[in-house]
Amino acid sequence: MSPGEAADGLFTEVDHVAIAVNDLDAAVAFYERTFGAHVVHREVVESDSVEEALVAVADSYIQLLTPTAETSTVARFLAQRGEGLHHVGYRVKDCAVALQAARDAGVRAIDEVPRPGSRGTTVAFLHPKSTFGTLIELVEE
Ligand code: CO
Repeated sequence: MSPGEAADGLFTEVDHVAIAVNDLDAAVAFYERTFGAHVVHREVVESDSVEEALVAVADSYIQLLTPTAETSTVARFLAQRGEGLHHVGYRVKDCAVALQAARDAGVRAIDEVPRPGSRGTTVAFLHPKSTFGTLIELVEE
């Protein structure tokens, strides 16, 4: 049995660690040059006004994020806190089920219902004020 099969919670994998950066190309070059990492996906997510580059790490990703508009929440994050860890995405089998479980447990959801994320995923965010300070994204592939 693999460690993933042994787990009996709602999380099946760390999907991605998201890092907010000012210069996406410079950040990608850093991961490529320093760690020999590879970008496997790049996408502008219009609904969030961000551009992302996914760097593969085994079955997970580093999600480098930069805003494409001043109205983006990532733009606000960079202005207030500077570059750095923005959120952690946990892979789940069923985003709606995981979101409901979190809400039933009293967690404040940012998304009332699951919505489309990048690369065809379905996602929902949980508010850091009710998750010990980390913005959590539930990711269904
Ligand atoms: Co994310």
